[in-house]
Amino acid sequence: MDSDTRQSVIDIDSVSKAFGGLQALSNCSLSIPAGSITGLIGPNGSGKTTLFNTITGYERIDSGDIRFQGKSIARATPEKVFRLGIGRTFQLTRIFPKLTVLENMHVAVQRQGKGHLFSSWSAAHEQQKALELLNFVGIAQHKDLPAGNLSYGQRKLLEFAFILIADPQIILLDEPAGGVNPTMILYLADRIRELHQRGLTFLLVEHNMEFVMSLCQRVAVMHRGSIIAQGSPEEVRNNPLVLDAYLGEGVQ
Ligand SMILES: Nc1ncnc2c1ncn2[C@@H]1O[C@H](COP(=O)(O)OP(=O)(O)OP(=O)(O)O)[C@@H](O)[C@H]1O
Ligand SMILES: [Mg+2]
Repeated sequence: MDSDTRQSVIDIDSVSKAFGGLQALSNCSLSIPAGSITGLIGPNGSGKTTLFNTITGYERIDSGDIRFQGKSIARATPEKVFRLGIGRTFQLTRIFPKLTVLENMHVAVQRQGKGHLFSSWSAAHEQQKALELLNFVGIAQHKDLPAGNLSYGQRKLLEFAFILIADPQIILLDEPAGGVNPTMILYLADRIRELHQRGLTFLLVEHNMEFVMSLCQRVAVMHRGSIIAQGSPEEVRNNPLVLDAYLGEGVQ
């Protein structure tokens, strides 16, 4: 099916967001087709993380709307957004360094709160699911280590497992490959492909162009708070506006 005619999971509709005098998002519009892996690229400071923060309830928008499966989530809290089925990782990982890897997974389960599917789980079931996910991301052998002892790349994998526990429909990844060694980047790409084949939708921000271009069917380009181009990796690569945007902000 043509990705442009597929139903979208998330619709970002003319969103603006200022921090004091700084216009971080400016009439930003983007639709994420269901079942796609969409890449979001753009120079440093172009508003990518801010867009993630507005989608996931960490920042309030000034105007516009954000819809998830057709319903506005513009005023939803991060907890509500997470429970609706939108998982995200952070550019700088957020884990509890003194807790073990497995204990971190239990914190993720607790975050589900009451009324969710998981609230009826037995402790044994929780434990099994946590171990399965740690195994899936490849760090199950470190389950009893304090999470603070993990390498940077392994912490990113833990954070990935952390959001999978909620069975999200869409996952937003903010620079998953940043600071991660090449072998682990390939491993991560395989995990993303596998989850994509199971029906998950991805929106990923990444400066590693090889990673983006090999993984994504669609790429959107942000510049100064707006989407200035989108299309297939090939179309985006050949779009002169995109090169101008990067060169205009200096070489990254
Ligand atoms: N909480 C905040 N308060 C004030 N300014 C902010 C805040 N968050 C982001 N900004 C500013 O908004 C602009 C967009 O930042 P953002 O972090 O979204 O960029 P980005 O595209 O993710 O960049 P990078 O590729 O470097 O991660 C920047 O100028 C940044 O300094
Ligand atoms: Mg960012």
